[in-house]
Amino acid sequence: MTVDSSKTIPAFYAGQSIFLTGATGFLGKMLIEKILRSCPDVREIFLLIRSKKELTMNERLEKLLNLPLYDKLRKEHFSRFKKIIPISGNVKEKELDLSVADRQMLIERVTIIIHAAADVKFNNSLKDAIYSNTRATRDVCILAQSMKNLKALVYISTAFAHFNKIYIEEKVYPPIADWRKMIEIAETLDEHTLNIFMIKCLHYAPNTYIFSKNLAESVIQEYSSSLPCAIVRPSIVGPSLAEPFPGWIDNIYGPMGLFLIGGKGLLRVSYLNKIVAEDMIPVDIVTKTILIVIWKLKLITYDHQFIYTSPSPFVLNCTNQQRSTYEQDIKELFDITIKDVPFEATVWTPNTILTNNFVQFYILTILLHILPAILIDLVLKFSRRQPMLLQLLRRIYVANCAVSYFSFHNWEYSNVNRLSLMSLIPPENWEEFSFDFYRFNRKNYMKHSIKGVKKFLLHEDVNLLQLDAVKARNKRVFLLVRVIKTIISIGVLWIMIVFYAL
Ligand SMILES: NC(=O)c1ccc[n+]([C@@H]2O[C@H](COP(=O)([O-])OP(=O)(O)OC[C@H]3O[C@@H](n4cnc5c(N)ncnc54)[C@H](OP(=O)(O)O)[C@@H]3O)[C@@H](O)[C@H]2O)c1
Repeated sequence: MTVDSSKTIPAFYAGQSIFLTGATGFLGKMLIEKILRSCPDVREIFLLIRSKKELTMNERLEKLLNLPLYDKLRKEHFSRFKKIIPISGNVKEKELDLSVADRQMLIERVTIIIHAAADVKFNNSLKDAIYSNTRATRDVCILAQSMKNLKALVYISTAFAHFNKIYIEEKVYPPIADWRKMIEIAETLDEHTLNIFMIKCLHYAPNTYIFSKNLAESVIQEYSSSLPCAIVRPSIVGPSLAEPFPGWIDNIYGPMGLFLIGGKGLLRVSYLNKIVAEDMIPVDIVTKTILIVIWKLKLITYDHQFIYTSPSPFVLNCTNQQRSTYEQDIKELFDITIKDVPFEATVWTPNTILTNNFVQFYILTILLHILPAILIDLVLKFSRRQPMLLQLLRRIYVANCAVSYFSFHNWEYSNVNRLSLMSLIPPENWEEFSFDFYRFNRKNYMKHSIKGVKKFLLHEDVNLLQLDAVKARNKRVFLLVRVIKTIISIGVLWIMIVFYAL
């Protein structure tokens, strides 16, 4: 393959029509921003959006484009928003629930598909997971087959799709089940029988999300003989490193959710292995990777005069292995950072006990989460306020158990495709599109991430004056915590002495 270096990356995107699913998600929002900012001559972006929580598709789009993420774009290139065309659809429904007219428009105009929509809940029913993640991928491929000018179809998988391998190469592995049969089963069996069947499936995968994403990769594998397909496998997607500004986040799943409740002093104990490395990749790096993978597919199709045949999709592991850090080190870094960037309304001194012993975790959960939550909820109830702590901590417990599989395993990833792809990026596009982040500084990244959680998830002020005020308030809370701890310790000691004296 020879690279046409006369074509820069934005030039490749000029005139392209992109169809993006998962547009309202963490990654999707970032993709819209990056495409509109860095590929100014893109023809249009079709966004698949469903109506949700009493908001119509258009209301959701309006809300989305008002996010601070788009401030720079709004200020500098407002007219580019005109390139956005919302399309009503639902990936859980057959054929993405597209109207006939929308389907026809996509068939005629789309040249690039980025399929990022997924139901990311770990504890979903098998039916929902298969419909949203496996069948939807098949239906995207079927739609893609009708598109006459399709140059690339990129499927966003996950680095954990092949959880049963220790070393993960950049290739598709045999699936854990036959995707056709699984779709058929999901469509024909009743909910009760499916739930029983799900227990059997969960012998082969940690949860229904991974199960359905694993099958989706083999869907892509099968369609890649007739479509220019690629699979990008991000590990844990974290806040932005630099673009459009550091620390952008709008997803409470994963480590950022734990930081949020940990920083408020609510997370006293967490079930994970301290010496397992956490692989987190900034969202802007994932975005650039996807755009470069598309560009690479287009290079291939240009070389073959748009006739693309390959028995396998191009696969790229989008991980941060070289810079992954042990959970214990992350916790220590977090403890230091949260002192510098404290959250408002902190209820206890932030300090989470990490344990890999489930019995210890269970006992500490009762002592440090459940009992105080019952007490505080009672106080709330008697002061005629809504009790909520017990319910919140129950959800945290379920979430902690659900992610524990990933915090007890280490995986290694091949990065051959990543390196070779990076070497293809024309020098003039290096600044804008390189997904190498050799200047990555864990300490800075943590600080920006915590600021991002504070600003975008908690909607708190991050200016210095406000931070000082929060620090002063928290000092009083921590002093009170020390007094309470001392009283409890003296009380326990007293009970022991009385007990011993008897
Ligand atoms: N975030 C990570 O750490 C991570 C790691 C590895 C891989 N990935 C993969 O990256 C992709 C994007 O993830 P994300 O972090 O952006 O997740 P996210 O924030 O939860 O977004 C998921 C997106 O999928 C859409 N979606 C879900 N069900 C849908 C339905 N029935 N119909 C239409 N749209 C639907 C959501 O739309 P609504 O807003 O309407 O719900 C949303 O736009 C996913 O494929 C995920 O598996 C993510």
